[in-house]
Amino acid sequence: MVAEIIDGKLFSRKLRDQVAEHVTVLKKEHKVTPGLAVVLVGEDPASQVYVRSKGKQTIEAGMNSYEHKLNEDTSEADLLELVNRLNGDDEVHGILVQLPLPKHINEDAVINSIDPAKDVDGFHISNVGLLATGQKSMVPCTPLGCLLMLKGFHGTLAGMDAVIIGRSNIVGKPMAQLLLNESCTVTVTHSRTKNLEEVVGRADIIIAAVGRAEMVKGDWIKSGATLIDVGINRVEGSDGSKRLVGDVQFSSCSQVAGAITPVPGGVGPMTIACLLVNTLVACCRKYKLIEPDIISN
Ligand code: GUN
Repeated sequence: MVAEIIDGKLFSRKLRDQVAEHVTVLKKEHKVTPGLAVVLVGEDPASQVYVRSKGKQTIEAGMNSYEHKLNEDTSEADLLELVNRLNGDDEVHGILVQLPLPKHINEDAVINSIDPAKDVDGFHISNVGLLATGQKSMVPCTPLGCLLMLKGFHGTLAGMDAVIIGRSNIVGKPMAQLLLNESCTVTVTHSRTKNLEEVVGRADIIIAAVGRAEMVKGDWIKSGATLIDVGINRVEGSDGSKRLVGDVQFSSCSQVAGAITPVPGGVGPMTIACLLVNTLVACCRKYKLIEPDIISN
């Protein structure tokens, strides 16, 4: 079997087009422009690339983008003060503080200082709690992107066995909540899981979000399974050239899976598209306007 490719670029383009259409209507009929503030502390090269890309796509969707770049040695107090200012800024509907933060800053304190209504990452404890109890919340962008691709491909997910590899707050845990809300039977695995291959081998849906290059092999998985690869790992080939690979070994898994997301061009583009969706949703909720019918949560 050769797996069908789930094209994240195509999915994300459609999503961004829907967001842009909705933004046009908001501007015209309600004189409101959604605004996203992105805060970057330090000079981590990967974070700089992501932040640039977020800003560019925010503007392409017709929204306002506000970038705040702070030095690596910015104090936690100064960062909290900026977040507080953004919380009170009526032009800003979404706030994203790029992670990881420098070691001297308490990430939880910063995340939980963001107004939950502007928390477009969905990382604030109140959004985490709302999602866990199946209530209306801000949904973290990467898991939301994975879910939209899964639902776009399968329709209903009810009754499917889903195995998540990785238990991070950013992906693994919220992904589990989202799939539970879709009535999947969910298993979350991690570094201490026994017989990982056997557990993965039972799955109809596998979400690989562990950060280990090409860990999941073709002989681990059930024939016809759907593989969502969240990993982005930079590896060096034998000729010294660098390339990006996921947490899934594409060459072997694509021979066994029913469907698979590529790296790059799978989950990555969906994450930013979902950030735009969340910013639009935050703006609509603020003014009690009809939310886009993009996500049902
Ligand atoms: N760093 C890696 N992924 C993310 C994300 O989804 N949100 C934020 N804020 N930082 C990240």
